[in-house]
Amino acid sequence: MIDLKAAIRTIPDYPKPGVMFRDVTTLIGDPRAFRIAIDQMVQPWAGAKIDQVAGTEARGFILGGAVAHQLSVGFVPVRKKGKLPWRTLSEEYELEYGTDTIEIHSDAVREGDRVLLVDDLIATGGTAEASIKLLQRAGATVVGATFIIDLPELGGAKRIEALGVPVSSLVSYE
Ligand code: PRP
Ligand code: ADE
Repeated sequence: MIDLKAAIRTIPDYPKPGVMFRDVTTLIGDPRAFRIAIDQMVQPWAGAKIDQVAGTEARGFILGGAVAHQLSVGFVPVRKKGKLPWRTLSEEYELEYGTDTIEIHSDAVREGDRVLLVDDLIATGGTAEASIKLLQRAGATVVGATFIIDLPELGGAKRIEALGVPVSSLVSYE
């Protein structure tokens, strides 16, 4: 069995001192690790009747596209502000310093669509919470959120589960 953690590169002090940056570019560059990670991300949701996958810019696009393909469903990009060409819904969320805004097209999902949210990593959960709020405002039911990496000390998975959205992840770092 392949060790997914061994396929993830850790870069100390990036983007600033004290942060251990978990870099999934090494995992997605390894064909076996990429295939197994996508299979394992999909597995808990195989019976969940997913209509659409949503992925958050930027690494959620790579993984979410592969998960959507695996489930034979469409893909909804959740983008940073100002990138989408049609009418949008916006949600502001907290960063460590200041705020950021993400958007989806207002017609990206149909009322009642069952959506699986995908990203590479959950830390504070701020990005995932804003993505879920956007999808719900557009009419979707967010049935779950799936990540490669969880950083449990930062509480993101608990925060998302408190919203009633179950979370799955493949590896965690204390
Ligand atoms: C990273 C990661 C998640 C988010 C998780 O993205 O890919 O989207 O942080 O952090 P949170 O749980 O505390 O919200 P980042 O903000 O670095 O954006 P990028 O992928 O565009 O570089
Ligand atoms: N986003 C938030 N914290 C992160 C970390 N430690 N590594 C990679 N992406 C992150």
